[in-house]
Amino acid sequence: MYLRNRIIWHFGHGLHATKRFSGRYETVLWFTKTCDYTFNLDEVRVLSKYPRKKHYKGDKKGKPSGNPLGKNPSDIWEFALKEWDNELWDIPNVKSNHPEKTSHPCQFPIELVERCVLALTDENDWVLDPYAGVASSLIAALMHNRRAMGAEIDKENGYIEIGKKRIYDYYSGNLKIRPLGKEVYKPTGKEKVSQVPIEWN
Ligand SMILES: C[S@@+](CC[C@H](N)C(=O)[O-])C[C@H]1O[C@@H](n2cnc3c(N)ncnc32)[C@H](O)[C@@H]1O
Repeated sequence: MYLRNRIIWHFGHGLHATKRFSGRYETVLWFTKTCDYTFNLDEVRVLSKYPRKKHYKGDKKGKPSGNPLGKNPSDIWEFALKEWDNELWDIPNVKSNHPEKTSHPCQFPIELVERCVLALTDENDWVLDPYAGVASSLIAALMHNRRAMGAEIDKENGYIEIGKKRIYDYYSGNLKIRPLGKEVYKPTGKEKVSQVPIEWN
């Protein structure tokens, strides 16, 4: 197996540790079996920081230097893992629950898997998630016309049923999904929860 990327999925919130630094990332390891593999960069490009940047010399002088489809998203990914964290999201006018949240304690955002599916597979390819939980990976695959299969060991907590329901809900248009690429909410500092409590002054 060849390690192509060690991707850091960074998220802003989570449990607050007291005996070590709080964990704010997970690692996604992308391996390929051979040197012949799929990588659809154009499917997952993101907006360039400076799209108007131009070549300053040579044949292309004065022409835009970037790719009109955007830039490579790099190996550091930022998706909102816990928009449902009340500590941050208990803000008037902002949803206090992530739209995808189920009872599964360590569910992934569908958009995290969507980027992998779009970049690393083609339509009609198979996506296998051997630790399927509530089927986030399977849904991400089905959303983009891939075939999907999963395994889940936990019967007690009903994850398989929840996963199946989410798949049915997706096909009937009733699954709430956080859209791929939606910007992660950044507090402006004016929200009540962003301010230093009066008691600390
Ligand atoms: C990190 S969670 C995956 C969550 C999933 N990505 C989602 O968004 O719902 C890992 C899951 O793997 C399941 N699991 C653990 N060992 C397993 C095994 N040997 N076979 C199948 N599933 C397993 C656990 O029950 C748990 O639901």
